[in-house]
Amino acid sequence: MSRSLGPVQVLHDAPLAPLTTFRLGGPATRLLTATTDAEVIAAVREADESGTPLLVIGGGSNLVIGDKGFDGTALRIATRGVELRGTTLELAAGEVWTDAVARTVEAGLAGIECLAGIPGSAGATPVQNVGAYGQEVSSTITEVTVYDRRAGETVTLADEECAFSYRHSRFKADPERYVVLRVRFELEDAGGMSAPVKYAEAARALGVDPGDRVPLADARETVLKLRAGKGMVLDAEDHDTWSAGSFFTNPILTDERFAAFRARVRERLGDGVEPPAYPAGQGRTKTSAAWLIDRAGFTKGYGTGPARISTKHTLALTNRGDATTEDLLALAREVVAGVREAFGVTLVNEPVTVAVSL
Ligand code: EPU
Repeated sequence: MSRSLGPVQVLHDAPLAPLTTFRLGGPATRLLTATTDAEVIAAVREADESGTPLLVIGGGSNLVIGDKGFDGTALRIATRGVELRGTTLELAAGEVWTDAVARTVEAGLAGIECLAGIPGSAGATPVQNVGAYGQEVSSTITEVTVYDRRAGETVTLADEECAFSYRHSRFKADPERYVVLRVRFELEDAGGMSAPVKYAEAARALGVDPGDRVPLADARETVLKLRAGKGMVLDAEDHDTWSAGSFFTNPILTDERFAAFRARVRERLGDGVEPPAYPAGQGRTKTSAAWLIDRAGFTKGYGTGPARISTKHTLALTNRGDATTEDLLALAREVVAGVREAFGVTLVNEPVTVAVSL
């Protein structure tokens, strides 16, 4: 059965690179742009009923698309809607995340101010439980409304049904199943003050102790400054930001594996050297991917080709202007192999790969 796609915009053999922050990847057989939830659902149903592979694109800030492109239907989510009622915020999936953060700060509401400057769309935030500077969306999200492709219906999942963890969720675990339509957050009215500042680097930059609150606008501006210094705020003129932010997640090791890793670090780098270690609960420790990459010899700006490590942060792989996806993947594989060889830890990519793998 084929359905009418109604007012959905349809393009054929459409370039996808301009829709990604890497500016990489070949074309899609078909590119649809949906501006309402009904259009999103109609487009997804049509692809599923005809057995066509589907690629959902939000802000394109976490996507690595193969040079040959995507043989199927790419669906751009361009829905709009920001509703603030009291301390409740509801966002359509296609809303620009960083603009929504700015709105809540202006409205005097706390809870997502440290997530300012993160590229991408609101609908992408629950998928990988976006986080930065001590905040994660999972601590303010109360509900996510999704189209469930398996059941063929729209459902609303409560926070505890989303299986949120570090850069992970039920949606990421089952990527073919859910398309996010709207996200609801419960924020805090703390009289114009931020949530308690948790991240040491942010507290230092704000001149307060961890746990203190600061005026909301100060928190947002400080985070934007810190991010910009690391090339983590989009700027078309700056190739350090032609990236997907962090390319690797921070490894979480069991205490036993962490002890072995620590011994390896001392053996290799000297007795006085301690790797970064943050408690991650349940007898586990999180260490820093950026540190591992740096200490394995891949320092800022590493590389001679068109794909290189950012000059501002070792965790971002970047397109210097004329890279291909293969150039990027070659660099990523070199980094993974180098870190594994140096420290016995295998880095895992954070961005989603389409029609390619690491
Ligand atoms: N470091 C280096 N070299 C560098 C940069 C950092 O050795 O060039 C080491 C330092 O020891 C530093 C540590 O890495 O203390 C951590 O660096 P940073 O505070 O910048 O945080 P991160 O772990 O690299 C994470 C998130 C970012 C988020 C920042 C701030 C992940 C994968 N990344 O980065 O999120 O903005 O913390 O909270 O969890 C993203 O996910 O795309 C992203 C940008």
